[in-house]
Amino acid sequence: MKVLVIGGDGYCGWATALYLSNRGYEVGILDSLVRRHWDLEQCIETLTPIAPIQQRLQRWTDLTGKNIELFIGDINNYDFLVKSLLKFEPEAIVHFGEQRSAPFSMIDREHAVLTQVNNVVGNLNILYALRDHFPDCHLVKLGTMGEYGTPNIDIEEGYITIEHNGRKDTLPYPKQPGSFYHLSKVHDSHNIHFACKIWGLRATDLNQGVVYGVLTEETGMDELLINRLDYDGIFGTALNRFCIQAAVGHPLTVYGTGGQTRAFLDIRDTVRCVEIAIANPANAGEFRVFNQFTEMFSVGDLALMVKKAATSLGLDVEINNLDNPRVEKEEHYFNAKNTSLLSLGLQPHYLSDSLLDSLLNFAVKYKHRVDQKQILPKVSWHRK
Ligand SMILES: NC(=O)c1ccc[n+]([C@@H]2O[C@H](COP(=O)([O-])OP(=O)(O)OC[C@H]3O[C@@H](n4cnc5c(N)ncnc54)[C@H](O)[C@@H]3O)[C@@H](O)[C@H]2O)c1
Repeated sequence: MKVLVIGGDGYCGWATALYLSNRGYEVGILDSLVRRHWDLEQCIETLTPIAPIQQRLQRWTDLTGKNIELFIGDINNYDFLVKSLLKFEPEAIVHFGEQRSAPFSMIDREHAVLTQVNNVVGNLNILYALRDHFPDCHLVKLGTMGEYGTPNIDIEEGYITIEHNGRKDTLPYPKQPGSFYHLSKVHDSHNIHFACKIWGLRATDLNQGVVYGVLTEETGMDELLINRLDYDGIFGTALNRFCIQAAVGHPLTVYGTGGQTRAFLDIRDTVRCVEIAIANPANAGEFRVFNQFTEMFSVGDLALMVKKAATSLGLDVEINNLDNPRVEKEEHYFNAKNTSLLSLGLQPHYLSDSLLDSLLNFAVKYKHRVDQKQILPKVSWHRK
C-alpha cells in the first residue's frame, strides 16, 4: 500500500515513515522542513544531532534496500501539494505536518496566527486535494488528547451520546482546548468531519497523548537515522524533558502543583497505532476518532518516577514546582477511554523502569549538547 507521511521529517513522522517502510509499505515523505527553521528562529536544537533529511533517507536505502520518495514543500502551497499527490498516488495519507507546540502558539499574536494558518489551511488543502483527486484515499490525521481539555466527566472517543429534554443523540464530544495550538486541532477535526459528511471522504482522527521515548527498531539502526528529542521550554514535552533535565542535573520543571493529569504513550506505540489505523480504514463518509494513548499520569507523578529511576542510576535529582506559565486546572478529574486501538490489536509498551533507564542513559550520552538556558519555560499564557 502507498502511504504518504506528511511531516515525515519530524519526531513522530520520521519514526512512522521508517516503521511503515520496514513493514513493506511503499512510503513517501512530504515535509517543508519548517520545524528545522522554527528551531533556528527560537535558537533551540534537538538533543540528538539529526542529519539532513536527504542523508537520512540515503542511509535508510543503503541499510535496507528500501526507497522512500521525498517531497520537500509546504502543504499550504496548494499547487505543490496537488502535484506531489498526483506523482505519488497515495492510498493513505498520514498527516503529522503541523506546528505542534502549545507554548510556540502562545508566544504572541504572530505565532498564534502562524500556528492556526499553517495547521488549519494546510489541513483544509489536503481535504480539497483528496476531494478532487483521491476521494477514496484514507486520511489518518494526528489530533491530540489536548483537544478535550479536562472535563469533569469521562472522555469518550470522539463522540458522546446525550439525552436532553427527552430526546437523544450521539454528538461530537465537547472540546475545551488549552492553547491556540490545541484550538487549531479542534478546527481541523471539525473541518475533516464536515468534509467526510459532504464529500464522502474517509478519515481517522488520532487524538494522540503526549509521546515519550526516542528509540524505535528502525531509528536505532544507525546514528544517521537518529530521531529528534526536544528538551527546551517550547517544544520539549513532559517525560522526555524530565529525563534530559535529570541527565544534566537541572531540577525537573513541574508547572504549578503538578496535579495536571495527561494521557501518554511510547513512540513505539505511536508507529503501531498509525499502522493499525491504515490497515483498518474508515468507511467512505466516516469520520472516525480514536484516542491514541496507553496510560494516564499526573505530571507530578511522572517527575517522581524520573527522580526514582535517575537516583538509581546515581544521578542527583531535585524537583522544582515552578509558577505555572499556563492557564490550566492543576487538580482535576481525568479519565479517558482508549479501547478502539486496543480492540484492533494494539499491544502497549507501558512505561517501565527499563524504558526510563534507557531514556536517561540516552540523555546522558548527548548531555554535552544541552543548552541550559533553553530549559526553563519563557512563554506565558497570562495577560502581560
Ligand atoms: N509529539 C507529541 O507528543 C504529540 C502529541 C500529540 C499529538 N502530536 C501531533 O503529531 C504531529 C507530529 O508531531 P511531532 O512531535 O512529530 O512534531 P514535529 O514538529 O517534530 O514534526 C512536524 C513536522 O511537520 C512539518 N510541517 C509543519 N508544518 C508543515 C507544512 N505546512 N507543510 C509541510 N510540513 C510541515 C515540520 O517541518 C516537521 O518536520 C503533530 O500534528 C502533533 O500535533 C504530537
